[in-house]
Amino acid sequence: MKILIAYYSETGNTEQVAQAMYGAVAGEHDVVLMPVGEVVVDRLDGFELVFLGAAVHDSDLARPLKRLLEALPMNPRFKLAGFSNHAVYVPDGSARKEEIYSQWAGRCLPSFEDTCREKGIQFLGYFHCQGVASKPIEEFIHREIITSEKEWNEYLPESRKYPTPEDLKDAKGFARRIMDKL
Ligand SMILES: Cc1cc2nc3c(=O)[nH]c(=O)nc-3n(C[C@H](O)[C@H](O)[C@H](O)COP(=O)(O)O)c2cc1C
Repeated sequence: MKILIAYYSETGNTEQVAQAMYGAVAGEHDVVLMPVGEVVVDRLDGFELVFLGAAVHDSDLARPLKRLLEALPMNPRFKLAGFSNHAVYVPDGSARKEEIYSQWAGRCLPSFEDTCREKGIQFLGYFHCQGVASKPIEEFIHREIITSEKEWNEYLPESRKYPTPEDLKDAKGFARRIMDKL
């Protein structure tokens, strides 16, 4: 099966996730891994499955991937799966987990779903995980979101561990589950 995995990544987190997905499916299939900027829309119909992923910017998929979604053809042959990588920290077990995720990354899934609905593309699933924030984003989070010094001192060392080996394992599992749906 011909599969494309395309990602938009400025600081390498989403790229790591894309590489993990590639590692999970490349052995058994003909898989192409490339940055979103290299995708040629007219050639997408050569693929049966397309994974598209991006860093989260302003709680949505980063613009280069949004532009690619807008440019996708109507009723194509390929099916789509999506992924994103965000800096927002959503600790397991936190009562505010859903609320925090939805505020800081919650527009990504609807962006995939709306595009697929509008363009008649079968949407197979969505994966997201945390990445390490760049310095300016760390400063923004400290200034605007985690303003208490106590919470910040707990957050900072934790936040630099992402995506964890567990996240990358989950990304592989996601890619395999998507393959199982075909
Ligand atoms: C301009 C800009 C806006 C961002 N906005 C968000 C945001 O709204 N929510 C979030 O969780 N992370 C946000 N981030 C952080 C990135 O999503 C995060 O660091 C991600 O891991 C970057 O992925 P990359 O290394 O693949 O570029 C933003 C980063 C940049 C540069």
